[in-house]
Amino acid sequence: MSDVGIDAVEIWTGKLKLDLAETFAPEKGDDPAKYTKGLGLFESSFPDTYEDIVTMGANACKRLMERHDLSPDDVGRIDVATESSFDNSKPISTYIAGCLEQTFDGDFHHANKGERKFACVAGTQAIDDAYNWIRAGRNRGRSAIVVATDTALYARDDPGEATQGAGAVAMLVSEDPDLVTLSDAQGYGSADETDFLKPNQQFPSVDGKRSVQVYLARMREAVEDYESVAGDLHPDDFVYAPFHTPFPGMVRKAALLAYRHITRDTEIEEELADAIGMQPRREEFDDDEAFSEAVSAYTDDLKGTDRYAAWYDATIDPTLDISRRVGNWYTGSVHIARIAGLKRALSEGRDMTGERIFVASYGSGAQAEVHHETVQPGWDEEIAGLNIDEQVADRYDLTFEEYERVHAAHDHSKDRDFEEFTAPEDEFVFDGWGRMGERK
Ligand code: CAA
Repeated sequence: MSDVGIDAVEIWTGKLKLDLAETFAPEKGDDPAKYTKGLGLFESSFPDTYEDIVTMGANACKRLMERHDLSPDDVGRIDVATESSFDNSKPISTYIAGCLEQTFDGDFHHANKGERKFACVAGTQAIDDAYNWIRAGRNRGRSAIVVATDTALYARDDPGEATQGAGAVAMLVSEDPDLVTLSDAQGYGSADETDFLKPNQQFPSVDGKRSVQVYLARMREAVEDYESVAGDLHPDDFVYAPFHTPFPGMVRKAALLAYRHITRDTEIEEELADAIGMQPRREEFDDDEAFSEAVSAYTDDLKGTDRYAAWYDATIDPTLDISRRVGNWYTGSVHIARIAGLKRALSEGRDMTGERIFVASYGSGAQAEVHHETVQPGWDEEIAGLNIDEQVADRYDLTFEEYERVHAAHDHSKDRDFEEFTAPEDEFVFDGWGRMGERK
């Protein structure tokens, strides 16, 4: 069996923009630096009133299929990952296939369609499902499309309101892929948690501070589990490490934790010892609390070292280039982080073929998954074909008062006003139930 992985990718951003420093912070009475420096976010993407998870997902797929000259007959499986679903029975992939059938010759009657749910990690799980389907030889030579699509909206005045976002990532999973192959080795950290829930409600109930701690705990377990199957990691094994990015400040914490963990017992720990001492070992402490305080103090010191800063700037910072401008896309977040890293490499003229990427996904509720990917020879052409910079630049810049109106229009508990802020062009739009259409 040849290698399996991501062959092609396409991104669709919600067409409105909320500027956090200029528009949001002044209305909240907050210092803009809380958002730009603390959370690391400058702007959020918002869906226009004719956009939702179906239209964004279908528009990303349409671009993907057009750019790669694919017909429905080339695709044997369509899986959607989302935590913004509106139907407990019929999967969102059926709506997306229905939209695509309006545009492409043929139909998807032969295709297996489904919907994956485990908060933000579901996008990665859907890629796993496609990978396993192909590796099992059940694909009959066809590829799978995986769509991660979300409107990550929070209730007004929830602390999560600053981290909203909306967009879709469509990925083609195939044999002999042009972008990245996936490792067989994976690591998991998974536990029953209740820090972030959407029990039949549109906006999440979140214990934000606890959700940060749960993310870190599950990620540490996933890295340990990965090492138990793939051997000890070293920070220089990977050119980029895209993490699930609810906001870049979260990734700053997760990357530091991962770096501390994987530099233990390496020459890097020895080299840093003169400046910040060796990492605390559990056996040196009488109780867990004293040990955990010592680990926190060591981690703070580690963050201030030139060695860590250089690794972070090279391996993590490039993966945040898109997320800083679009906010949290839930299931799509880690996938735009991968693309952001590769885009940075392309802009710097680097040859990435054969290089390894460490991918760290996370979903509340809660589960972290890590694996590695190997960049393939067609990566540069694939990344060069994306137009995400133009999409981001073209978004309509909302005033705060317009933001309040569009947030209300997406609140299913309110009477909805379908005032439109942008003009759709050759794309799928939501026109009300039963009237999903392509407006030219
Ligand atoms: N200048 C610079 N930095 C500032 C600042 C200023 N003037 N004011 C505050 N900050 C810093 C703070 O020190 C803090 O940084 P550290 O955490 O590094 O100390 C950061 O800005 C944020 O400030 P607060 O912690 O005071 O912010 P908050 O409490 O209002 O909101 C949050 C933070 C609770 C995480 C909130 O954004 C939230 O609820 N988000 C939704 C949940 C979420 O995204 N959780 C992440 C893990 S779960 C997950 O990943 C799944 C998912 O997608 C949801």
